[in-house]
Amino acid sequence: LMLINPSFKAAAQKELSYQAVIDRAYDKFKDLKEGKNADYIKELANVDPNIFGIAIVTAEGKVYSKGDLNQRVSIQSISKVFTLARLIEEQGARVVADKIGVDATGLRFNSIVAVELQKGKEINPLVNPGAIAAVSLIKGNDSLAKWKNILDTHNAFAGTKLKLNMPVYISEAGDNLRNQAIAHLLLAYGRMYFDPVQSTDIYTKQCAINVNAKELAVMAATLANGGVNPITKEKVVSPETCAFTMGIMSTAGLYDDSGQWLYAVGLPAKSGVGGGLIAVCPGKFGIAVISPPLNAAGNSVKAQKAIFDIAKDLGVNPY
Ligand code: DON
Repeated sequence: LMLINPSFKAAAQKELSYQAVIDRAYDKFKDLKEGKNADYIKELANVDPNIFGIAIVTAEGKVYSKGDLNQRVSIQSISKVFTLARLIEEQGARVVADKIGVDATGLRFNSIVAVELQKGKEINPLVNPGAIAAVSLIKGNDSLAKWKNILDTHNAFAGTKLKLNMPVYISEAGDNLRNQAIAHLLLAYGRMYFDPVQSTDIYTKQCAINVNAKELAVMAATLANGGVNPITKEKVVSPETCAFTMGIMSTAGLYDDSGQWLYAVGLPAKSGVGGGLIAVCPGKFGIAVISPPLNAAGNSVKAQKAIFDIAKDLGVNPY
């Protein structure tokens, strides 16, 4: 059953400002009680389910927001986007296509069957197997150098020094046997390019980076702005890298609900089980919403509804 009802805004509706559409979505959904915090990572069950923050950052660097912007959650799978972008930037789009694969699996984000069906060949960098493979490929001679590369990349996209959510990291690191299994299965198929235990650990760390809605929106806006952070003006990656990255976000950003999302909204996006969701309107803005309760596929219920409404009100579906 689709979470959002695909529809276009009434043609007669007048142009609305970014702030007006954010305020409207915030008021409409703030009291919605649907979905449930992730609990397969124990610490995520303890996060306040009422956190609700919305931010838009434009390609010119203007910031619009509403709600909880001081509350941070772990970035979780949204980190996959930025590690992927760094990997494309440093090693080229071809390497990602050949050594990981870019087709959607159509299965759950931590599916072992998805790896097995393809014998490790067509996994995807925005779900767990491909994301752990991406970490294993990223430049760095040892675990520390790889982690530094990944954290520096996230900081550059966000334009600030991000910190780790230690309770989430410790909780997941002690309990990530399924991801460890995935990494070892990839190794067996010759598709893991660094030590599987260390790669999984670095991957778990990147998932525990703590972010608020504004920081996530700046990260999304850097993709919208062709790889230049619109706040710091730093060139983080090339416009070509952004295009390749957003291509994969379009087909696989919301796991096995990615098709439904693109059908309804038309914008590349990425969710995380911490409750964050980003979407990018290329050339215009990045948007982020944080709200921890998730639907069955693992995507934030309120965040999907809010971004859908905002994108509809702004009339930004490019199709
Ligand atoms: O590996 C995990 O299961 C989490 N650290 C991240 C999962 C998530 O957000 C959904 N993944 N695509």
